[in-house]
Amino acid sequence: MVKKSNDWKSLYKKNDEDPPLPEGHILFYNELVIDHFSNPRNVGEINDADGYALVGDPSCGDQMKLWIRVNEERISDIKFKSFGCPGAIATSSMATAIALGKTITEAKQLTDDDVILALGGIPENKRHCSLMGIHALLAAIADYEKKRNPKDPGSGRNPSS
Ligand code: FES
Repeated sequence: MVKKSNDWKSLYKKNDEDPPLPEGHILFYNELVIDHFSNPRNVGEINDADGYALVGDPSCGDQMKLWIRVNEERISDIKFKSFGCPGAIATSSMATAIALGKTITEAKQLTDDDVILALGGIPENKRHCSLMGIHALLAAIADYEKKRNPKDPGSGRNPSS
């Protein structure tokens, strides 16, 4: 029997004892987000990395470590380890995927919106998860620039700005 379009919530209800689904819009992770969560890209560490950062989201306690290798001002390798929700893992993975191969100047222009767009969207209440990958990337770049030019206090971009 074909369900009426306004009866879609019943598709997710297995039996009458299940609690009712919340009112309003319910947004689900799309297939690409699930793929990046299930098979995250660029997981690992880089020994003697050119830049490193450890960042966390104080609102939920999730954390991310990120390493970059830079050759001729281009990110030639990038690795991460994240402790967090599916949104954090998927957006961390995509942040590294879109940063790989970019010049330092290009990578510093990336935003959390770029990560979300590349993933084809994430549920509204998971938007904040996409900040962690970008914060880690910018902090690792700032670390790289500081190591390269330790006397320049203005090098790097403050990831919290
Ligand atoms: S809930 Fe903490 S990053 Fe997703």
